[in-house]
Amino acid sequence: MSFGRKYCLLFLLVRSIMSDHTNQVVLLDTTAVLGELDWRTYPVNGWDAITEMDEQNRPIHTFQVCNVMEPNQNNWLRSNWIQRQAAQKVFVELRFTLRDCNSIPWVSGTCKETFNLFYLETDQPHSATTRFLPADYAKVDTIAADESFTQTDLGDRVLRLNTEVREVGPVTRKGFYLAFQDVGACIALVSVKVFYKRCPSTLRNLAAFPDTVPRVDSSSLVEVRGACVENAEERDTPKLYCGADGDWLVPLGLCVCSLGHEETDGVCQACRPGFYKAFAGNTKCSKCPPHSSSHDQAGTICHCDKGFYRAAKDPSSMACTRSPSAPRNLISLINETALFLTWSAPSDSGGRKDLTYNVLCHRCSGAPGGEEDCEPCDADLRFVPRPLGITGTSVAVLDFAKHVNYTFYVEAVNGVSSLGQGSRPLANITVTTDQAGPSLVGVVRKDWASDNSIALSWLEGEQQPNAILDYEIKYYEKEQEQLSYSSTRTKTPRAVVTGLKPSTVYVFRLRSRTATGFTAYSNTFEFSTGDENSGMAADQGHVLVVVTAAVGGFSLLVILTLFFLITGRCQGYIKAKIKSEDKRRGPFQNVVPFPGIKTYVDPDTYEDPTQAVHEFTKQIDPSRICIERVIGAGEFGEVCSGRLRTAGQTETPVAIKTLKGGYMERQRRDFLREASIMGQFDNPNVIRLEGVVTKSRPVMIVVEYMENGSLDSFLRKHDGQFTVIQLVGMLRGIASGMTYLSDMGYVHRDLAARNILVNEALVCKVSDFGLSRVLEDDPEAAYTTTGGKIPIRWTAPEAIAYRKFSSASDAWSYGIVMWEVMSYGERPYWEMSNQDVILSIEEGYRLPAPMGCPVALHQLMLHCWQKERGQRPYFSDVVSFLDKLIRNPSSLMTLVDHVHSFPESPEVMPHYPLFISIGDWLDSIKMSQYKSNFLAAGFTTLDSVSAMTLEDVRRIGVSLIGHQRRIVSSIQTLRLQLLSDQHNGFHV
Ligand code: ADE
Repeated sequence: MSFGRKYCLLFLLVRSIMSDHTNQVVLLDTTAVLGELDWRTYPVNGWDAITEMDEQNRPIHTFQVCNVMEPNQNNWLRSNWIQRQAAQKVFVELRFTLRDCNSIPWVSGTCKETFNLFYLETDQPHSATTRFLPADYAKVDTIAADESFTQTDLGDRVLRLNTEVREVGPVTRKGFYLAFQDVGACIALVSVKVFYKRCPSTLRNLAAFPDTVPRVDSSSLVEVRGACVENAEERDTPKLYCGADGDWLVPLGLCVCSLGHEETDGVCQACRPGFYKAFAGNTKCSKCPPHSSSHDQAGTICHCDKGFYRAAKDPSSMACTRSPSAPRNLISLINETALFLTWSAPSDSGGRKDLTYNVLCHRCSGAPGGEEDCEPCDADLRFVPRPLGITGTSVAVLDFAKHVNYTFYVEAVNGVSSLGQGSRPLANITVTTDQAGPSLVGVVRKDWASDNSIALSWLEGEQQPNAILDYEIKYYEKEQEQLSYSSTRTKTPRAVVTGLKPSTVYVFRLRSRTATGFTAYSNTFEFSTGDENSGMAADQGHVLVVVTAAVGGFSLLVILTLFFLITGRCQGYIKAKIKSEDKRRGPFQNVVPFPGIKTYVDPDTYEDPTQAVHEFTKQIDPSRICIERVIGAGEFGEVCSGRLRTAGQTETPVAIKTLKGGYMERQRRDFLREASIMGQFDNPNVIRLEGVVTKSRPVMIVVEYMENGSLDSFLRKHDGQFTVIQLVGMLRGIASGMTYLSDMGYVHRDLAARNILVNEALVCKVSDFGLSRVLEDDPEAAYTTTGGKIPIRWTAPEAIAYRKFSSASDAWSYGIVMWEVMSYGERPYWEMSNQDVILSIEEGYRLPAPMGCPVALHQLMLHCWQKERGQRPYFSDVVSFLDKLIRNPSSLMTLVDHVHSFPESPEVMPHYPLFISIGDWLDSIKMSQYKSNFLAAGFTTLDSVSAMTLEDVRRIGVSLIGHQRRIVSSIQTLRLQLLSDQHNGFHV
């Protein structure tokens, strides 16, 4: 049996613990025999048995012989028959005195100083008549004295007691005799003890191990399996090893107390009433969770008190819960097209967090005062977001009929609602839909179509025609399945939609608007444009040409132009616009040959990527680099700061990106790809590549060091500490870097504040190159339905929808960077999900101005966020625009917070009823904790909230500056939304 090193320590430990005397089983001890010993002697005048009494009157059996004067002694003393029991080997311990011959005069020829020990195994004792035959006995050993005597100072010789132990065995028969042969010595045998060793029964790790006799062969151990104690179960086979000395060694495996039991003093005891243990293991019983109890011992679960329940997925450690009480304060608001129900959470949530609401509806009709005839509402009624499982505290009901009494029941449910008995508490409200608005427009007809236009007309609904202010037509390419849509308006029941693609099917929906608001949209209608050869067959007199999606962009341009007119600095901007128009084809491709401008070369176009590294980067001798500390972790390895020794022996601070060891060839290529891109750029607002190390390990990319790190964290660290001019200066730098990159034909695809680096002079430089690889590395990048990885919040809709990346999509991202900068690193769209961001952008929603943001900058952001990419500004325009602002700081003094009316363009902030209750609104900006502050201060409608100032927000108890900022920004949106609603005649 061999043991691994890991057991060495254990072995020693266990050995020391277990070395006690219980591991000896005594078969014979002459000192403990009270009666006669009755041992035999041959011849009878040889050994003498002397029995004396000690102080306690117990006999001391001694055998003596001392025939030292006579030659040829052969005196035998034989024990009684000793039962072997379980022994496989026995130990014989002899205590005796032995005179040395020198101490006895005249015995030199005959005196001996040893005696012999023999044994004989038999299965039964000999009868009294059996003759003693010495030849039958096997010799164990010759016993000599260690200390037959010692000399005292006085010269006396004092006899000393010797103790000798001998092993006898293996023994296999039922018993044995011991025999002592004297050949002429002077011996007194004071005691004989015969015993064997065993490992005594024990409890270890909640397992019981029986008495075990060690192997005869003292170098091997007996493996013993333990049995788990009562109420315990095996986790890993419990084992101990019995060693030759009767010690237990090397405990392995264990048992654990079963459910309902815990370990106390090495056994498993039942949990007391009021406690439980749901799993087997070495844990203690736990107290029953609230609203539950266990009445008996050994509880494995606590049963819920009456009226309380546990849902199927609730853990047994969770408190028992109950159904919630009814929702409170159910109110309704109705306008022409929608009916809003809002309520507050129940006073008792039942102790759970999984609260949702169901809205049920009954429709009642009948003569006033007469008997009402009620039935469940028909399926036509639409609930937004849904009728059941609503997580907020409001719902919009659409498509209701006119002149009907609807009774709505709102029930609060949680995970245990289905388990309770009895009626469920409901809140209800009856709403009469007398003021229902105009009905839908009728059937839409295609009057004619050319290759790029379709003429539509329709019949007006039952509404008085003159009550209709205008119609809105929404349309999109059928193939694109709502990826993007355009809309247009007309005052007459007809329109020509232009700017369409030839031979393409478009889907149209219409709605009309009266002084009281919009109708719901009509059904969809599908019409196709003609092919390129088809002429236009139309009655031109009917045609109202509508310029569609460009309206938003155009109106923004008008606003910006107006802005310049007001500040008297319009010319440059318009000129820049014209100049940009010249290269309209250009920035939307990656490789654009502008005369006189160096163009970017995609390293992927090289068959051998090392060739690109060779061409665009400089090799640095690693001995010139001194790495000082790790400042971050990139996808490929650590990013460090350090120093680079230049030719003139001066040192420049640098950042060093390393490629960690064990990389694949592909990783090395991707890593160096960024260097091949960066090496092509030379602009003060683009991070500069110093060089690469590729000929030794680790592979490194060395770039200029930017003391203030990435822009997003830098701004968050210095929240509110910069002047607007400083912020605009940073934005100007980024726009200038982007102008350079887009002029070179490089599309960044991941422009975001986290990818801008800031140096100690606050100069911002664009970094993180590498196209798709960059996105792999970006924690913000999420997979889209088409499988690409895209940083949704920063990316233009066309790039998300069909990966149309261009300098125009970079311009969209730049608008988001502007917003990040002006809000000091706030997360764009806060905690909204990526999906909600996509939907709200699609609906026309745009980020509101951050608190304290000059109108001009928010206008520029909105310009960058035009749906039509062709309408977005060029980076060179942005630079000129920002330069003008910087040169004329008074232009930055009008803050969005101060604007109370807004330009007459609904497209700037299109109608988008985002929120229908204060609760919903605060939930959406993750500020739900302030609901009660708003209500307590009397701000109960969105209308009243929209008029709140920063001071009001502070006054109602929002003290954290970040929270004030978030709420005030969102109030701007509300305000614009309401303004836009009023503009559209929509009342919430
Ligand atoms: N982190 C990543 N690149 C850096 C750089 N160039 N300077 C400072 N910090 C950085």
